[in-house]
Amino acid sequence: MSNVRPESMERITTEALAQAFIAEQVAALKAQVGDKKVLLALSGGVDSSVVAALLIKAIGKQLVCVHVNHGLLRKGEPEQVVEEFRHQMDANLVYVDAVDRFLDKLAGVAEPEKKRKIIGAEFIRVFEEEARKLDGIEFLAQGTIYPDILESGPVKAHHNVGGLPDDLKFELVEPLKFLFKDEVRVVGKALGLPDSMVYRQPFPGPGLGVRCLGAITRDRLEAVRESDAILREEFAKNGLEGKVWQYFTIVPDFKSVGVKDGKRSFEWPVIIRAVNTKDAMTATVEDVPFALLQHITARITAEVKGVNRVCYDLTPKPTGTIEWE
Ligand code: XMP
Repeated sequence: MSNVRPESMERITTEALAQAFIAEQVAALKAQVGDKKVLLALSGGVDSSVVAALLIKAIGKQLVCVHVNHGLLRKGEPEQVVEEFRHQMDANLVYVDAVDRFLDKLAGVAEPEKKRKIIGAEFIRVFEEEARKLDGIEFLAQGTIYPDILESGPVKAHHNVGGLPDDLKFELVEPLKFLFKDEVRVVGKALGLPDSMVYRQPFPGPGLGVRCLGAITRDRLEAVRESDAILREEFAKNGLEGKVWQYFTIVPDFKSVGVKDGKRSFEWPVIIRAVNTKDAMTATVEDVPFALLQHITARITAEVKGVNRVCYDLTPKPTGTIEWE
C-alpha cells in the first residue's frame, strides 16, 4: 500500500470531516480485519489512544490493548488509561505492571543512549510475552501518523513495535498513517476521547527515564514524577496547558546545599523546562510569569521529597535540546 497521502484527501479540520473519516475507516477496518483479533500497544499518548478508540468502534472486543507500565510514566497516567479504556469504553485491555523489571534493568546505567536501548528492548520483550499469551492475533495496530512516515523531524519514531521475532510478524493496521497531528486530535475529539488525552503534550517513549538524569534511582524518579505533576497542575490552573508546546521537570544526579526548617539540607535541584516549537527542530523558551515560577518553586520545595532548589532553563534549541538526555 502506498505511503503517500492522496492529493484528494481533504484536511480534517471540523467535527463533520472527522465523522466522515471515522465512518470510512470503520468500514475499511471491518473489511481488513474480518473476525480476527488485533493487538495494540496502548501507551495512552494521543496517537495510540485515537487508534484504540477507532478500533473499538470498528471491531469492539476483537481489539486487545496492551498497556505496559514501565515505571517511567507520569503521575496518574496508567490509572487514566485503565479508567478510560477498560471502564469507560469497555475495551479489552491487558494492563502489565512491569515497573520492577524496567527499574531493575536500568539500575546503575547512566549513559543516555544505553538507557534508551534498555527501555526499548525491554518494552519489546514485555510486549512479545503478552502477545504469546494470546490466541488468534493476526494483526498489529500502530499509531503511525504522517510525520512518522515523512521522518521530517527529530521526534524519534516511537510508534513502531518493530523488532518482534519473525513468528510474531503480524499484518499491520495503521489507520492514522496519512494524518497530521492536528487532524488526529480532531478525530480523537469526535470519537469522544477526553480533552486530557486529546490535547496531551508530546511525551517521549523512554518517558521520565530521560528526565531522571544519569543512573535512575526510585527516590529520584519519584522526585521527577511529583515535581512534574505540580508543574502540570499549575500550568493547567494558570491557562498555560494547551498553550505551551511541552513542559516538564528534570532532576539531575547531584545535590546542592540549602537550608530547610532551620537546618542544613543537602538535596537535589529540580529544573523546569517549558518550550514552544512547530516541529521540534528548533524551540524557544516560554516566558512564564515570574510570580508563577516563584509559586511553583515554593510548592516543589515544600512538597517534593529530597528537593531544596528549583531552576528555570532559559536555553532555546539550539543550543539546548528540548530533553536533557
Ligand atoms: P530533543 O530533546 O531532541 O527532543 O530536542 C525533540 C522532541 O522529541 C522528543 N524526544 C523523544 N521522543 N523517544 C521519543 O519518543 C525519545 O527517545 C525522545 N527523545 C526526545 C522530545 O520530548 C521532544 O518532543
